[in-house]
Amino acid sequence: MSFTYMSSARAWMPRAALLALAALAAACGGDGAAESTTNTTVADGTFARIQRDILDKSCVSCHRAGDANARQSQLVLTGDSAYAQMVGVASLQQFARADGFPRVKPYRADSSLLYHKLSWVPGHHSRDYGQLMPMGTTKGVTAGQLEYVRRWIEAGAPRVGHVVDTAVLADVRLQSASFTPLAAPTAAGLQLKVDSFAVSPGSERELFVYRRVGNATDLYVTRIQSRMRPGSHHLLMYTFDESRTAFPCNQRPAVNMVRDIRNADGSLNIANMLPMACHVFFAGAMTQDFDYRFPPGVALRLPANASLDFNVHYVNRAPIDLPGEAFANLYTADRAQVQTVARTLNLANSNFSLPPKQRTTIRTVFPMAVRTTVLGLTSHMHALGERYEIRVRRADGTETSVYVNTDWEHPSFTNFETPLVLQPGDALVSVVTWNNVTDRTVGFGLLSSDEMNIIFGYAY
Ligand code: HEC
Repeated sequence: MSFTYMSSARAWMPRAALLALAALAAACGGDGAAESTTNTTVADGTFARIQRDILDKSCVSCHRAGDANARQSQLVLTGDSAYAQMVGVASLQQFARADGFPRVKPYRADSSLLYHKLSWVPGHHSRDYGQLMPMGTTKGVTAGQLEYVRRWIEAGAPRVGHVVDTAVLADVRLQSASFTPLAAPTAAGLQLKVDSFAVSPGSERELFVYRRVGNATDLYVTRIQSRMRPGSHHLLMYTFDESRTAFPCNQRPAVNMVRDIRNADGSLNIANMLPMACHVFFAGAMTQDFDYRFPPGVALRLPANASLDFNVHYVNRAPIDLPGEAFANLYTADRAQVQTVARTLNLANSNFSLPPKQRTTIRTVFPMAVRTTVLGLTSHMHALGERYEIRVRRADGTETSVYVNTDWEHPSFTNFETPLVLQPGDALVSVVTWNNVTDRTVGFGLLSSDEMNIIFGYAY
């Protein structure tokens, strides 16, 4: 069986290894940058171009000595100061500081606040890094300018020298990630979707849509593929726990109706959220594109007349409307081809509390009552979450780490080439670290300002 999903390598790579790689990349890039700087002057290099085309045009109206904006941000971007105030200088913005991102970190655009401030690509931001720059407009820098800045940083952010091909500047499109709808399955299977909706500037929108699958007989799902327009935190699909017959689990949501979890005034719409209490995880993607295949002979069963409750969560930090939309393809096989029927794992700890202004690590043990073969795992936490680790604990007490994720917004899905076999008495253990930078106690909840602590996965 092969990995069908990106970032599995990263999921497995210990932090020390990542840091070592970063150091290596830095060393290599350093040589390249130094070489290309020998015969150029400040006036015509890559940074000079950034100063002239971007900073002078779009930034110094605010970021100039004496301006209130410059005081607030403690950042002056005129030609005499910009380089010295950005490269290698600690950020003022609190989340960037907490993440250890300076304004510009040579060789690491993804760890540079400047790059995040200029990225208007919906869904780009895993954290709230304050206003997008240039602030107060409806247009960011162009896709080409953003790429130019990114490559300059990746080349070591030198003050002089040509380190980026100016051809990238030719892409004058305003930034917006392009999107191609997912084509419906050509083989046996069907497509379900959440129709396009708008997320207004500076807001988040989380909603549910209950869709009938339309299957007269049981379906055996061998592959789940999904695609979302950028900007979503997740696409989750749920069935309902049929064994629970008390209110609210004796109710089903209205079919095809968009159920926002928040009212126009920002308060929670409890009626729309009630069905969550009875959800059973069916499939989930935390990334824009997702494609999961069960091992040969294994399928997830979807009973006749099934419905799926779709859940998407869009965060729009850009000052322009963001469209949301999501597609899911379920590929199916005949029952005769299926030897093993898989089920979903949904292991949640909803009972924790994170004191303000400190890091907290919480460990939760989920013992297995029966022999369980785990095919793949993913996790769910929100914006204060720094690290989600899953371990296997054997009956004799030994523990092995099998999953680590440090990106709350796009958690990796780790697919086990050799499934993990847990015997009765063995357990899955979640070890989750949050950095509660806020000044209030945070607990389990549905908003991205609340926290979550869930292991999802497939098993049989
Ligand atoms: C209308 C005024 C205005 C304009 C124009 C503007 N900025 Fe800002 N900038 C601010 C303010 C106010 C802050 C502080 C608040 C924040 O970070 O959200 C800030 C913060 C920043 C920060 C974060 C500094 C830190 O250490 O936290 C960076 C980087 C930045 N701006 C870069 C730019 C760039 C690059 C441009 C041009 C493309 C730009 N700004 C245009 C007002 C502006």
